[in-house]
Amino acid sequence: MSALVVARDLVQVYKTKTGAFEPVRELRAVGGVSFTIQSGKTLAVVGESGCGKSTLARMVTLIERPTSGTLEIDGHDALNPSGETRHALRRAVQLVFQNPYGSLNPRRKIGTILEEPLIINTKLGKQERYEQVLAMLARVGLGADHARRYPHMFSGGQRQRIAIARALMLNPKIVVADEPVSALDVSVQAQVLNLLLDLQKQFGLAYMFISHDLAVVQFIAHDVLVMYLGIAVEHGPKDAIFDKPLHPYTRALLAATPSLGGKRPERKIVKGEVPSPLDMPKGCVFAARCPYVTDLCRAERPPLRPVAQRLVACHYAEKFLNA
Ligand SMILES: Nc1ncnc2c1ncn2[C@@H]1O[C@H](COP(=O)(O)OP(=O)(O)OP(=O)(O)O)[C@@H](O)[C@H]1O
Ligand SMILES: [Mg+2]
Repeated sequence: MSALVVARDLVQVYKTKTGAFEPVRELRAVGGVSFTIQSGKTLAVVGESGCGKSTLARMVTLIERPTSGTLEIDGHDALNPSGETRHALRRAVQLVFQNPYGSLNPRRKIGTILEEPLIINTKLGKQERYEQVLAMLARVGLGADHARRYPHMFSGGQRQRIAIARALMLNPKIVVADEPVSALDVSVQAQVLNLLLDLQKQFGLAYMFISHDLAVVQFIAHDVLVMYLGIAVEHGPKDAIFDKPLHPYTRALLAATPSLGGKRPERKIVKGEVPSPLDMPKGCVFAARCPYVTDLCRAERPPLRPVAQRLVACHYAEKFLNA
């Protein structure tokens, strides 16, 4: 089976200024990330705030061009597409955000919000568009009468259903969801996750699912990519990683994760601060917070290498195999 998304060594470097009289500096938000996503499968991207998850999402949805690397979507070079392909690719990849209220126009009725992509991108007549809007509302568990209401008249969970419906109006192949359930009550999270799973089965959708919550990831992912300071520290099948996490960072994240619906831990996940991406450490990115750090870790960046059915970037990954 050929992959729908093939990302190789994606890099995003931002030029930033810390103050008016400071020089321009380079911030490596994503420092060379590779992955593939098959149709009908979910790649979950996890990691703490600032590790580069949304930056990765903006590159995959073609909102931002990577500084370097290659990106193939549905067999096409997505970074240098021909005119026609460009249009098709923009339809093929859709984005769902964390905050559905911010992304839904408050002055438009739901029916109009869902119809809009069809008006812009298709030649369908009014009646056909209306039928498609009603069919989509039904698919995401909403009724025909909801089409005449405004976004503020819905609950958070319903609004996220509307945002998902809008993303699906143009029959995309890939949906990139950036923390889609993080703003929802725990009781509503499972309903929206189940909806995403149903839609994936129905349409064979590929998901890139961004979350800082490993309980959610365990529920929805096939593959997991754990990011730290813009790079992948562990990447592979969910079962391999959840059964036996090998990177000390993944181990710490998992240790702090209650099951879905359980109480969230208040404390910080791992002790210590994440280094600034403006000041990347020379050795292992996790060295400053790792309980097992050695001189080798501070001196040499461990490569991402295969160990026990996944890739892991730790000099001592084997140490945890029998732990
Ligand atoms: N347009 C930009 N210009 C400069 N720096 C940026 C820009 N966008 C993001 N960054 C920086 O890049 C790094 C990665 O940011 P990003 O938003 O991708 O993280 P994230 O993993 O999505 O975090 P969160 O969980 O908080 O959403 C951060 O250090 C951020 O400050
Ligand atoms: Mg983000």
